[in-house]
Amino acid sequence: MSNLPNGKISGKVWGGVFTETTDSRVEQFTESISFDRRLYSQDVSGSVAHARMLADVGVLTAEEFGKIESGLRQIQQEIERGEFEFNIKQEDIHLHIENKLTERLGDIGRKLHTARSRNDQISTDLRLWVRGAIDQIDVQLKAVQAAFVERCDADFDVILPAYTHTQRAQPVLAPHYWLCYCEKFDRDRERLTDCRKRANTLSLGAAAVAGTSINIDREKTAKYLGFERIAANSIDVSSDRDFALEFAFCLVEIALHLSVWAEEWIWWKTSEFHFIELPQAFCTGSSIMPQKINPDVLELIRGKTARVIGNLQSLIVLTKGLPLAYNRDLQEDKEPLFDSFDTVETSLTLAAPLIAGMTLNRKAIAARLEEGYLDATTLMEYLIKRGIPQRTAHGIVGRLVRMAMDKNVPLAQLPMDVIQSVEPSLDKSVYEILGALQAVAAMQSYGSTAPEQVRKQIELWKNKIKN
Ligand code: ARG
Repeated sequence: MSNLPNGKISGKVWGGVFTETTDSRVEQFTESISFDRRLYSQDVSGSVAHARMLADVGVLTAEEFGKIESGLRQIQQEIERGEFEFNIKQEDIHLHIENKLTERLGDIGRKLHTARSRNDQISTDLRLWVRGAIDQIDVQLKAVQAAFVERCDADFDVILPAYTHTQRAQPVLAPHYWLCYCEKFDRDRERLTDCRKRANTLSLGAAAVAGTSINIDREKTAKYLGFERIAANSIDVSSDRDFALEFAFCLVEIALHLSVWAEEWIWWKTSEFHFIELPQAFCTGSSIMPQKINPDVLELIRGKTARVIGNLQSLIVLTKGLPLAYNRDLQEDKEPLFDSFDTVETSLTLAAPLIAGMTLNRKAIAARLEEGYLDATTLMEYLIKRGIPQRTAHGIVGRLVRMAMDKNVPLAQLPMDVIQSVEPSLDKSVYEILGALQAVAAMQSYGSTAPEQVRKQIELWKNKIKN
């Protein structure tokens, strides 16, 4: 046994107190290197900043810091080149990097973990990772918004039915639809910005749970890592995963929005709707039905939302009632979080080219636009503007729609005498607001599908996307 490092029976950095070696099943069960290895660059950055601060306060000499920094950078390069060997005996990314450093630098490497615990270390690594992940998702959300905005001018002349209760409701401009998604993704971006503020907090210096008796300078560490604030309570640091849950929730919202869009376009691509075609490079076929061109990518974007929701649920349950402060349970936070990020990230990557490559079946859409009495509400409002109370106007238009339905014609094809039999005060000017095109043109309110309003919004969005 004496040939083990430091005479430790277990061969672990924490093994001094142990009198038995670790069961291999325990090593297998407790390891996290299989998934936390993706935090290697954050771990190196955190360690370099920590060591730099230790040198600032005189715990390390400038020379020791220099060796630690270059040793850590070298390890990072080896990991990136695939030359670094991982093994579950060393548990996690923190120990892999630290042990390798010590193997090379001896006692100097052994000083790195001064005034630090893996509890504040993992919290730091994860915060750095979340910060970077937020920035990456934000860029992709912007690309999806840009894909929608870039369609707006070309699709301006297309009128689509808007639905409520999956029933045809009112006519809207196609860009009004596109900008609807831009708004949703913009709220997602705002949420990410807000989440980033809380994630961007320094944990290092909290050590295991009570802080440290070594005279460290947390301001410096925060500055080196670009953290905007310093966590004020070491117990809180040790236990806090709010930032991870918040990010997981932000990802849920994005996935939900993507799933709504995917669902809509799946329907629009059916023969029944026949509103759109999707680029074939983003569709797949059937192994038995030769005619099929299926929207599988959209279906999977919709389907993968389930796991993003499930991951948030896992994190919520994981932290519920967990006693203060750090508990190993918290190691289970990473896989769901990474999975949610990977899933949403991939979905966004596919969404942008799908949006850009979609073609509208203009003729098919136009041919059926007068179905479903999309102009009924505009007609009602026309009556209101002529002094008829809303409830009365609603009733009148309801009767007119019923008559048109019985004759199987749109409202615009009801003869004047039929219209006047229901509402004698009406005259020929009524035909000026009937039909989908005129119903859209009649709109006025801010945020509506009025062409003037939509034009303004498109310009606003073009500017937003530019910046
Ligand atoms: N692998 C651990 C995690 O992900 C790192 C912290 C371990 N701390 C400890 N005291 N065992 O949470």
